[in-house]
Amino acid sequence: MALGQALGLRAGLFMMPRMPSPLTGDFPSYRPRRLRGSEMLRRMVRETRLHPDQLVLPLFIRPGRKVRNAVPSMPGVFQLSIDEAVREAAKAQKAGVPAVILFGIPSKKDTRASGAYAKNGIVQKAVRQLKRDVPGLLIITDVCLCEYMSHGHCGLVKKSGKSATIENDSSLKLLARTAVSHAEAGADVVAPSDMMDGRVAAIRTALDSGGFNNTPIMSYAAKFASAYYGPFRDAAESTPQFGDRRSYQMDAANAEEALREVALDLREGADIVMVKPALAYLDILHRVKSEFGYPTAAYAVSGEYSMIQAAAKRGWVDERAVTMESLLAMRRAGADIILTYAATKAAGWLKEG
Ligand code: PBG
Ligand code: ZN
Repeated sequence: MALGQALGLRAGLFMMPRMPSPLTGDFPSYRPRRLRGSEMLRRMVRETRLHPDQLVLPLFIRPGRKVRNAVPSMPGVFQLSIDEAVREAAKAQKAGVPAVILFGIPSKKDTRASGAYAKNGIVQKAVRQLKRDVPGLLIITDVCLCEYMSHGHCGLVKKSGKSATIENDSSLKLLARTAVSHAEAGADVVAPSDMMDGRVAAIRTALDSGGFNNTPIMSYAAKFASAYYGPFRDAAESTPQFGDRRSYQMDAANAEEALREVALDLREGADIVMVKPALAYLDILHRVKSEFGYPTAAYAVSGEYSMIQAAAKRGWVDERAVTMESLLAMRRAGADIILTYAATKAAGWLKEG
């Protein structure tokens, strides 16, 4: 500007005129506190909203009747027999939660995960019962093999000498078979969480040739190898019996790779992409939503839930306030859909206003 003036150039013609910051006015004419003065004003200018329609409740289903096994590391979460799951799902629906996602705990595990794609598998039976007894509730199924594998891994294991590898391509067939069997039972959406390469394409192809071309896929597209899954593995009884999941789940340090994973899943036919965990990965969530603009889900995982529960139990944080602030943060970062163990409670709190 100074140089421009010295040369006699008119500001605005050759140079950008000095403008107030496009983001704010200046004090004292602009006082941000003016709009914080009452709850009425705060409500009016609130940018992000949380609504029960955006919540999904995870349910752990096990065989039996009238079974409600508390999961010690997840207060308020239970392994449920199908009859109890129906009650829990109806309660969620009454609170305004539109959807549940099902995880199965089979009576037997093996090295081919046969329980995952059995016609009368635990999830398949639960889907049929829930579709009958809780009409209008959206049923999503988690598609993975780990809960059904004796070794607890998300794919087929090939042993050679002392080492073992999780096989990619042979696992795809079983995952596709599992997804189709869920759709046959009546699942509204299938959600692959295994992190094998190419599984969305394999599932899309299998669904289409099975007559389920209208069944959406919600892929756990950017799923990180996370210590926050600890309590879930108690709940789903899916702890790997050897090794860990780092050869298939993502490294916590990688954001660029997460975008490639999402791009790949979208090209393979994913309809909704998920980032998991949520709170420690809000940057990823934000980038995925702004980069691709697709319906985006965030999974507030077991460890996130348990930490809030544990601190709240001790009176160290306010359960309701911290839960709602966390869910709002996921919305603000870009989540359209949030999977959370607090779904029913949160929906109830939202109704209270
Ligand atoms: C298994 C699966 C996991 C979760 C969802 N599906 C655990 C894992 O990968 O070990 C985690 C959910 C949670 O922690 O709440 N494929
Ligand atoms: Zn798995």
